[in-house]
Amino acid sequence: MNNFSFYSPTYFCFGKDTENEAGNLVRRFGGTKVLIHYGGGSVVRSGLLDRVKKSLEDADIPFAELGGVQPNPRSGLVYQGIELVKKEQIDFLLAVGGGSTIDSAKAIAAGAVYDGDFWDFYSGKRIEKALPVGTILTIAAAGSEGSPDSVITNEDGMFKRGASGDAIRPRFSILNPALTQTLPPYQTACGITDIMAHLYERYLTNTKEVEVTDRMIEALLLTMVHEGPRVIADPNNYEARANIMWAGMMAHNNSCGVGRSQDWNSHNIEHELSALYDCAHGAGLAVAMPAVMTYVMDHDVMRFAQAAVRVWGCQMDFACPENTAKAGIQAFRNFLTSIGMPKNFEELGAKEEDIPKLVDVLCNGDGRKGSISGFVTLTEEDCTNIYKLML
Ligand code: NZQ
Ligand code: ZN
Repeated sequence: MNNFSFYSPTYFCFGKDTENEAGNLVRRFGGTKVLIHYGGGSVVRSGLLDRVKKSLEDADIPFAELGGVQPNPRSGLVYQGIELVKKEQIDFLLAVGGGSTIDSAKAIAAGAVYDGDFWDFYSGKRIEKALPVGTILTIAAAGSEGSPDSVITNEDGMFKRGASGDAIRPRFSILNPALTQTLPPYQTACGITDIMAHLYERYLTNTKEVEVTDRMIEALLLTMVHEGPRVIADPNNYEARANIMWAGMMAHNNSCGVGRSQDWNSHNIEHELSALYDCAHGAGLAVAMPAVMTYVMDHDVMRFAQAAVRVWGCQMDFACPENTAKAGIQAFRNFLTSIGMPKNFEELGAKEEDIPKLVDVLCNGDGRKGSISGFVTLTEEDCTNIYKLML
């Protein structure tokens, strides 16, 4: 296991009706004037926004509002948010929604206390300072409610990049599984896929002797395999939604990623797809991950065989572990299809003729030098081959 330090000070408030604690929690974490940030309207339609406003009013906390965050959140609204925060002298960001809304709020929180262009943070500069952020999560997926990360799409070129820093870890996150019951089945499945991707990106490691985090990841993957179909069959299954929601947080606050190298090639390959085609991140991952896994399997066949046996219940073929590894990848692919995820470029709305463009932005955009690295280093040729596997 590698040396590590881990600091994850988010306060979690989990369960039914917990959104009514929003005002108290903002006050507890030092907010005196809030920007409520939200998406395209689901929180208005569900009545959640009104409950959050009431909670702030009850706690005597003034607020401004900025809605309109799109999935794959855009830089334009972040600039608007930064202006609004400065003008209104806001000192706390409250994101009400999914990963896109939370990431947009994190970007505004960092940009509002920075003299330069907030995009510097999405081009490699670490975030050291930000206004405090709180979240009320409405979809179990991205894990942004417990992560130090934010992913934004730059409209000037339509490419998607991430920024990081403990300063943008939410001070508190309110997780009420019942709020996710209004999700369309496709979005629920996209969330399940993203959670599993966060686990696999950590499982694909070059670090030896990481039994504890291997076993944690396997347990969370097994939870998704068990609870995913239950929630697709019955969207109102609160208990299944609760297990998925907490698994989504655990998958990405890095408690099961510490002390080990991680992959993230599937995420990087996917981000170009959701930037260019505006597809859901989870849907893009459903197509990208099995292709990446198939392509890099030979790098460490036994790691894939281990997941196949422990997570997917495959029989170990000692004479030919490749068979076991392949069976595990196929079982994962079948699972994704069973919950309604796309299988290939066509179902995702992606186009073969765009592959050279996708590869160029992926491997050369924004300071990269002809490759991406993770579990294995992938050159432009490798990435081209991987996108072709998705056809
Ligand atoms: O915008 P509204 O109207 O709220 O609708 C949203 C949106 O259309 C809808 N939705 C959310 N909760 C709902 C609901 N509809 C009905 N009922 C509810 N309870 O779902 C749609 C998707 O929302 P979005 O926030 O985009 O989903 P998600 O949480 O999957 O976030 C995806 C974004 O997170 C980034 C992705 O790249 C993508 O941009 N990621 C962020 C990470 C992080 N910060 O740590 C890590 C991830 O790997 C990921 O890259
Ligand atoms: Zn993700």
